Amino acid sequence: MASRIGVPKEIAEGERRVATVPDVVVKLVKLGFTVAVQSGAGEAANFDDDSYRAAGAEVVATAAELWAGADIVFKVRPPTPDEVALMRTGGMLVGFVWPAQNPELMQQLAAKKATVLAIDALPRQLSRAQKMDALTSMAGISGYRAVIEAANAFGRLFNGQVTAAGKIPPAKVFIAGAGVAGLAAIGTAANLGAIVRANDTRAEVADQVVSLGGEFVKVDYEEEGSGGGGYAKVMSEGFQKAQREMYAQQAADVDIVITTALIPGKPAPKLITAEMVRSMRPGSVIVDMAAEQGGNCELTVPGEVVVRHGVTIVGYTDLASRLSKQSSTLYSSNLLRLAEELCKTKDGVVDVNMDDDAIRGLTVIRQGEVTWPPPPPKLPAVAPKAKPAAMPAAPKGHGHGQGEPMAAGTLAIVFAVGAIAFVLVGLYAPATFLAHFTVFVLACFIGYMVVWNVTPSLHTPLMSVTNAISSIIAIGALIQIAPPLDAAAAPDRPTTLILGLAVFALALTGINMIGGFAVTQRMLAMFRK
Ligand code: NAI
Repeated sequence: MASRIGVPKEIAEGERRVATVPDVVVKLVKLGFTVAVQSGAGEAANFDDDSYRAAGAEVVATAAELWAGADIVFKVRPPTPDEVALMRTGGMLVGFVWPAQNPELMQQLAAKKATVLAIDALPRQLSRAQKMDALTSMAGISGYRAVIEAANAFGRLFNGQVTAAGKIPPAKVFIAGAGVAGLAAIGTAANLGAIVRANDTRAEVADQVVSLGGEFVKVDYEEEGSGGGGYAKVMSEGFQKAQREMYAQQAADVDIVITTALIPGKPAPKLITAEMVRSMRPGSVIVDMAAEQGGNCELTVPGEVVVRHGVTIVGYTDLASRLSKQSSTLYSSNLLRLAEELCKTKDGVVDVNMDDDAIRGLTVIRQGEVTWPPPPPKLPAVAPKAKPAAMPAAPKGHGHGQGEPMAAGTLAIVFAVGAIAFVLVGLYAPATFLAHFTVFVLACFIGYMVVWNVTPSLHTPLMSVTNAISSIIAIGALIQIAPPLDAAAAPDRPTTLILGLAVFALALTGINMIGGFAVTQRMLAMFRK
């Protein structure tokens, strides 16, 4: 039976976001769901009850009514114990849950025999999961807002100007941590005209910092900071000391510091000491985005703006909610993509497929059974650099996942079967066919080797530009269709069937090539200003 999705009004203090916006209601209804929204749920994000009604949702008056009637509840913040009490036994909850930080909530939800999909537990390194990645969409908005908060608290302009009254120097901004939020902050501050510098323990982000208009400041100490999966690791004492020295220099030089450094599951690293704050010029600003995890700055007060030694320290923990219309729109698109994955049949019936890596990762409770933490992710987002002296390790077991080379045994079998097939073709097929067939087999082999050795995180860009393969098909088809230059020398024209097939192949390849370029352009556009 088709499920009913309920969207309650968020009750956390100051929370202005709503889990579903009217545009997404329309799409959920198309997926076969019925949607109920609590009256006033979207008010703080500028979506009124009438806009939900117009989109096809039923507006219900109270939270109790909403929770009792919903098979699936879409929420932003983790539910409070009171909300869990309102929930239907055996119901489903989708939203931020933070299972590691909320063990009691997990117990309460399990006791309700609930199925809980924690959007924060999504395996973000899977490229397929990116469309559902609410942490990324929220962090991007928050990084932007952090710069706006900094500009608000800062008494000067960001961009340098030469005016009749005199020269205004550009503001200098230092950003600690160039993850999702940090990169968004770099782009925003650079767009406002500031001089932007950034540092991160993961050296791989240096190019991204530069492409967004920032300068990457290195710590003078050799240590790779990537802990796999696109996340950082805790650095050695030696590195931390060298980093503190560099941060002290930057703090004394810049006007604004925005800190976003975080290692998942760990308290925020203390990067800006009280001493560094004291060294900053009066009127400078620190925005500590990691305030909720204890803060990257020693003097941060989570949730508040304080002034210490003449420096304004912004510790807001609700930056995304401060742009509620935008963040609600993006968040509800993330949930819509998840709903599409859960309901491929488009009949409003949900299937929590635990064999799907993305769904498995974010399902933290299934019908009352706690399924968190999930098995560890199979791959880092970026393949670690191979050690020059190390021999390639023989793969364990016989399976081979994406990005792993085939096991030696499997490879031998494939080769043996291929060799037998080749001999058979050689014995029975005409000589011209054999020549083409040899080229074909070699091409497949080389293609396989090339694609299999590509870093998994680059698969999507690579696949969208597989035009080389398409061009070979296009050239082949054109040769069949085009009339020969010297008709007398080549009297055999292809049959209508071959001509038809060639035209068909050309049409399909054309779609693939144009589509490939279009997708590539869209992907590149995501990184352009
Ligand atoms: P992320 O994991 O993408 O980025 C964190 C970055 O910090 C990574 O690039 C990591 O390599 C780097 N890092 C870790 N330790 C470091 C160190 N010692 N020195 C320099 N860099 C270091 O996380 P994301 O999504 O960008 O979020 C950043 C922070 O912002 C988190 O603390 C998150 O909780 C917070 N946040 C705060 C919001 C608010 O309203 N205040 C809203 C959204 C996110």
